[in-house]
Amino acid sequence: MYSTIRLISVCAFLSVVSGTVHYGYIKSRWDVFNDDDYRIVFPHHEDESSTLVHVHVLFRHGNRTADSEAELYPNDPYLNYTYFPYGLGQLTNAGKRREFAIGEALRRRYDDFLGKFYYPEIVEAISTDYNRTKMSLQLVLAGLFPPRRDDVFNGLIWQPVPFNYLPRPEDTLLLGVLCPRYLELYEDHYNSNKVKSQLRKHRKTFDYISRNSGLNVTRYQDIYQLFFGLSTESEYGLKLPQWLNTVWPDTIIDLAIQEYYVSMGTTNLRKMAAGYLLNKILDDARRIIENRAKLCRKIHLYSAHENNVAQLLIALGIFEPHIPNYGSYIIMELHRINGEYGYKIFYENWTGGGPQLMKMPKCGTFCPLDKFKSLVDEHLPLNDNLCGN
Ligand SMILES: *[C@@H]1O[C@H](CO)[C@@H](O)[C@H](O)[C@H]1NC(C)=O
Ligand SMILES: *[C@@H]1O[C@H](CO)[C@@H](O)[C@H](O)[C@H]1NC(C)=O
Ligand SMILES: *[C@@H]1O[C@H](CO)[C@@H](O)[C@H](O)[C@H]1NC(C)=O
Ligand SMILES: *[C@@H]1O[C@H](CO)[C@@H](O)[C@H](O)[C@H]1NC(C)=O
Ligand SMILES: *[C@@H]1O[C@H](CO)[C@@H](O)[C@H](O)[C@H]1NC(C)=O
Repeated sequence: MYSTIRLISVCAFLSVVSGTVHYGYIKSRWDVFNDDDYRIVFPHHEDESSTLVHVHVLFRHGNRTADSEAELYPNDPYLNYTYFPYGLGQLTNAGKRREFAIGEALRRRYDDFLGKFYYPEIVEAISTDYNRTKMSLQLVLAGLFPPRRDDVFNGLIWQPVPFNYLPRPEDTLLLGVLCPRYLELYEDHYNSNKVKSQLRKHRKTFDYISRNSGLNVTRYQDIYQLFFGLSTESEYGLKLPQWLNTVWPDTIIDLAIQEYYVSMGTTNLRKMAAGYLLNKILDDARRIIENRAKLCRKIHLYSAHENNVAQLLIALGIFEPHIPNYGSYIIMELHRINGEYGYKIFYENWTGGGPQLMKMPKCGTFCPLDKFKSLVDEHLPLNDNLCGN
């Protein structure tokens, strides 16, 4: 209860004073602590030491078990495996550790920026409607917002933090690839001469995999699905059949990656696969810039899937062909440097070295907002009916 009051006071206060604020008038509840503990830094503060305005983080869920029949194949020796106690398509303990580690990494990175205490308006947390992404988001939040001092209850180093999701058919933000219009155009693209002639080059491999797996492999999509079945099985310690030796993992990974390019193969496909999210990120930037007094939100979290990560990287022109690892994440930081707003984009895929500062083609490592907008403009869905949901 009091934390809501605290935040309302903070917002009200901030609308008058932009800068470093001590909210002394509600301090009685907290007066055993130092002044510094209450320091909250307004997104547009003029403090020279930091230029950060707000942050968006899109991440993939953690390690999981094989998802349903779509990823398994008729001759799969593990077709009936139940993955007890996790179940199919669910987060495993390795996945939980990875997602919690994302939260901890973000806490280390943004400790000064976020301040010590959690309050509801500091974060917007959105998941897709999947168990594994919801659980992943909860874990990231647990790592990012451990309770401090008076917020601790029952000795737990955890506090509840709310998040939202939409039912899958309504979720254009993160599941635009399920839009009826997307699916139609995706079929069209697969039937285009361009993609068909690409696919013809892989006939032999497709036939080999079809013969042995019992699948009818005709597209990258079939291999892409198979990739997740095989990788989750092998991560789970199950031994893959002999026939895979010639195609696993390299050939299958290379073909699976092609699916990302097909999924982003036309302007309209890009608009639905990545544009809705880009639109929102730019909209949040516009609102925070135009209406600085009213917005206290500092960090936006999106818990989604590897295709979201790959598709956003493609839209930003910084995709290196790979399947984004469990817990891979893209950070988009809005900065204000010498009075100019712009993005710094980082990508962490857990191959060592931490989040890597990415260089946007034609824009560099600090991409001014106007330039950024013009570069992604063709991916922004302006027509609300595009999705057809
Ligand atoms: C899976 O279960 C079905 C139905 O019970 C059975 O016919 C099939 O042989 C099982 N497959 C494997 C690989 O164990
Ligand atoms: C969550 O997991 C349960 C148990 O496996 C399953 O019944 C349910 O359909 C899943 N829900 C979603 C949205 O993934
Ligand atoms: C495999 O799928 C293709 C395309 O959907 C279809 O034309 C073909 O008849 C299928 N082949 C078999 C053996 O099912
Ligand atoms: C979890 O996923 C990461 C990244 O793919 C991998 O390195 C690690 O071995 C996995 N852990 C388990 C237990 O499968
Ligand atoms: C991410 O990981 C893959 C290996 O899976 C690597 O090839 C790729 O270049 C990495 N980095 C980036 C920035 O994509």
